Amino acid sequence: MKDPTTLNRLYGRAKGHKLRAGQQALVDHFLPQVAVPDGPLDARTLFGDDRPLEFEIGFGAGEHLAYQAGLRPDHGFIGCEPFVNGVVGALMHIRDDALTNVRIHMGDAMEALARFPDASLDKVYLLHPDPWPKARHAKRRMMNPGPLDRIAAKLKPGGEFRFGTDHPIYCRWAMMQMNKRSDFIWQAKTASDFLVRPDDWPETRYARKARTVFGHDIWYFRYIRV
Ligand SMILES: C[S@@+](CC[C@H](N)C(=O)[O-])C[C@H]1O[C@@H](n2cnc3c(N)ncnc32)[C@H](O)[C@@H]1O
Repeated sequence: MKDPTTLNRLYGRAKGHKLRAGQQALVDHFLPQVAVPDGPLDARTLFGDDRPLEFEIGFGAGEHLAYQAGLRPDHGFIGCEPFVNGVVGALMHIRDDALTNVRIHMGDAMEALARFPDASLDKVYLLHPDPWPKARHAKRRMMNPGPLDRIAAKLKPGGEFRFGTDHPIYCRWAMMQMNKRSDFIWQAKTASDFLVRPDDWPETRYARKARTVFGHDIWYFRYIRV
């Protein structure tokens, strides 16, 4: 049956400025070494053992993915991003930080997520997803029942879902979506729990620009899968 949410195009563009020769070489020669393979996915397929897995949806330039991977070298990290210039950024982090625990899917995160067994991921990150602020585009937002059901299915019980945004319309929408669900428990006890950036939640270039150039507030949400 057609899933009306996940089959919609969730992202706007896959290409930006033309790649320089060194960047193109990374895509041609390094990406295949760290790319997520076709077919079913699990820790053994990706890393050769049964390590805990963490999954980032739309990693942008890959700073957060690389930071978390550096903190937990014994965990496996899967980052998904359709935008080739962002993938180049992540490849540079993986190379420069000599990270051996990261795999990249250059494409739709929902498609890659579907290929993991249910209850197999320790953490899922969704940081500053494209807001699709117009009401008529609301169905393209990641914080919708289709993508959220998939995230819920793939997280282990007790696993964590982190979501951040600097967009007030999206923040309100996301809180309403999550409020309807009984499969996630919001971890905030006081306002500072979602208004203050946690220590282990690094600020990406995107988030810094939102805060310092555009003067946006940023909201940090942590949910535990029931
Ligand atoms: C506003 S940017 C935020 C990037 C990064 N998460 C950060 O916080 O710096 C949103 C990113 O999500 C990516 N994206 C959109 N739809 C996606 C999808 N279906 N699967 C994976 N990434 C997606 C976009 O290409 C873009 O890089």
